[in-house]
Amino acid sequence: MRAGAPRRAAPGWLGAAVLPAILSLSAPADASALEQAAVPYVPTPWPVVDAMLELARVGPRDTVIDLGSGDGRLLIAAARRHGARGYGVDIDPALVRAARQAARREGVADRVAFAEEDLFITEIGQASVMMLYLFPSVMMQLRPRFLAELKPGTRIVSHEFDMEDWTPDAHRTIPVPDKPYGPPRSEVYLWVVPASVAGDWRWRAAGADGDVELALTQRFQVLAGSPRIGGRTGRLEDGRVRGDRIRFILHSDAGGRAERREYEGRVSGDTISGTVRHEGVESAWQAMRVKKP
Ligand SMILES: C[S@@+](CC[C@H](N)C(=O)[O-])C[C@H]1O[C@@H](n2cnc3c(N)ncnc32)[C@H](O)[C@@H]1O
Repeated sequence: MRAGAPRRAAPGWLGAAVLPAILSLSAPADASALEQAAVPYVPTPWPVVDAMLELARVGPRDTVIDLGSGDGRLLIAAARRHGARGYGVDIDPALVRAARQAARREGVADRVAFAEEDLFITEIGQASVMMLYLFPSVMMQLRPRFLAELKPGTRIVSHEFDMEDWTPDAHRTIPVPDKPYGPPRSEVYLWVVPASVAGDWRWRAAGADGDVELALTQRFQVLAGSPRIGGRTGRLEDGRVRGDRIRFILHSDAGGRAERREYEGRVSGDTISGTVRHEGVESAWQAMRVKKP
């Protein structure tokens, strides 16, 4: 484990389970490779593989990266069953060899590649889906890179471990009756990388009520903000960003009359294009970011 990493320990059962798992499933691995491994080899059970691919809605247009790819099962299944491309890295050369052999055996060697590489240096920007089964501390080390380097809309799926205060966009509990360690179930989490939308935005309000000034703050996919609508203070409700899709509701008071506008749109850099719904009428909406935090 890298220095200064752990914020939260992996459960004891994982530690207790790993030695038999390493010995039985990674038999050819040499001792030095095992010592280097920040996270031990424990394969994702097959029902969980299926659930991860399903939760991420992996399809033929996806490029899936598995950081710590083990025997390659996640990527091989993504290619075989869903037509995706994949790139897996593992620090253990025996596992990389095993994954390449399995890819050839399963007829997907032209779609998936495996490299012996430290996951901390792997370029991840090309992924549309990230698959992870790593210790919580490693996930938290990677989290800033996910937010900075992955494109908005990239799906991150993790087996067993979450990313603390980055609330998942979806979560499933999968029964695994014959799981060889821990409780007979696995947790699967999904996050959709949010576009970066914090800053000051401006646009003209529907109904010619004047300009809107909205200072947005962002905590992962959750937005808060202070709007001024036609010079009057308003209130933002239910602000969310999922990939490049943004939505929120603005409330204002127009001379004693409560106004409510529902906005939704697509973020592209410093522009949002979408629609606003006001008193049952939908109209085009375009906002510009005039200041970044
Ligand atoms: C819990 S296993 C998960 C294997 C596979 N992703 C799966 O779900 O079946 C974690 C894997 O990460 C690999 N690993 C640990 N530290 C690594 C590092 N620094 N760089 C690359 N791989 C690493 C281990 O060798 C192991 O195969």
